[in-house]
Amino acid sequence: MAAVAAASHVGGRQFLGRMWTKAFSIPCRHHKQKKKWAATRPKISAKRLALQNFDMNYSMQFGSLWPSIRVSLLSEKKYGALFNNFSNIEQITQELECLNAVDFILESQKVVQDLNPAAGHQDSESAVSTGPLAVPAKSQAQPPPSLSTLISPNIKCYTFPKGDISLFPPARPDTIGILGYYLLDAASVLPVLALNVQPGDFILDLCAAPGGKTLALLQTGCCRELAANDVSISRTGRLNRVLHSYIPPNVYDIVRITSGDGRKWGDLEANTYDRVLVDVPCTTDRHSVMEEDDNIFKSMRKGERQMLPMLQLELLVSGVLAAKPGGEVVYSTCSLSQLQNEYVVERAVELLNIQYNIEVRVEDLSIFRRLFQDTFTFFPNCRLGELVVPHLSSNFGPMYFCKLHRLG
Ligand SMILES: C[S@@+](CC[C@H](N)C(=O)[O-])C[C@H]1O[C@@H](n2cnc3c(N)ncnc32)[C@H](O)[C@@H]1O
Repeated sequence: MAAVAAASHVGGRQFLGRMWTKAFSIPCRHHKQKKKWAATRPKISAKRLALQNFDMNYSMQFGSLWPSIRVSLLSEKKYGALFNNFSNIEQITQELECLNAVDFILESQKVVQDLNPAAGHQDSESAVSTGPLAVPAKSQAQPPPSLSTLISPNIKCYTFPKGDISLFPPARPDTIGILGYYLLDAASVLPVLALNVQPGDFILDLCAAPGGKTLALLQTGCCRELAANDVSISRTGRLNRVLHSYIPPNVYDIVRITSGDGRKWGDLEANTYDRVLVDVPCTTDRHSVMEEDDNIFKSMRKGERQMLPMLQLELLVSGVLAAKPGGEVVYSTCSLSQLQNEYVVERAVELLNIQYNIEVRVEDLSIFRRLFQDTFTFFPNCRLGELVVPHLSSNFGPMYFCKLHRLG
């Protein structure tokens, strides 16, 4: 069976394939019954099929929260403007602030100060660190040092406040042709923040195209080298074009772009990277209910859809194997599905332990919920990782992210 074959590719253990097949209810071929369709049976659109599928699964997963998430998924999404530190900083800051947008990452500093009010009365020389959120009073322009030990530094992303549905105008090129900001779902910056990139890090972005998160990683100014991979040649072309529009040639020099199957990276470059981002292909829930084009719920893509959790598992395992012992890995999707989110993480932890004797610790990211609650709506009951759910007042996401620390 295909599921078992794919599991063998990960680790050669048939039991995983059986476990997986059971968990995801992939029907065995010999139990399939041929259905007879009337020639006149109306074709159901992929968007409609996606919504039916979500209604069935997510009403169980989210209970009374589902109607609110559903209507938000079907409504216009909000954007954030990822600030380009390589452009004209003063001009772009002024432009974005004139629109009444705020940098939601800088704003989170206020939350830190609320959590630790004593920090507001100390100067930065005398501040005593009393806990993970202790911050010195100074430094309005930079996140406080303790915050920058939790999240990747130097990333700025502007959003409009909750309830404000204003739109950003398209970014314009500056005098040397570099664009000032990149429009994206602001929640997609969260996995990059969670990766907690440190100066001199060697970074792998395993599924990188079209490049929003790669660009955010480069904004940290911390990457010694960044390997950006995506299996799709056309999409790596797009990634290349994005990078050329946003970063100067000397920064481009630290980026290595490849078009390979990320599942092979664990073999090809084992124990290599300080930080790995595994932003996997998924059911892209918002896209699936809104767009017919490139929709994974098209009937001809049924097999691909059913195999997604297996592909996600293989990519995550490969990403962890490519990380150095002690390295950190962030797994992310833009789906609400537990099967593609927590279950994949659980299976990966299990498989790494059993098959490779590698211990992995799943990090607690609940601080993200407190830091960014003014910008995003978080699902409060994730067992592992964090999930931003669409809400009409802050229509970002879905975005799931979970951080794994490779111990050995
Ligand atoms: C969610 S998108 C990545 C978005 C990207 N990280 C960003 O922020 O712009 C998932 C990507 O995974 C790529 N992909 C699918 N299968 C892959 C594989 N086996 N190895 C590497 N990339 C893969 C797809 O081509 C797609 O571009």
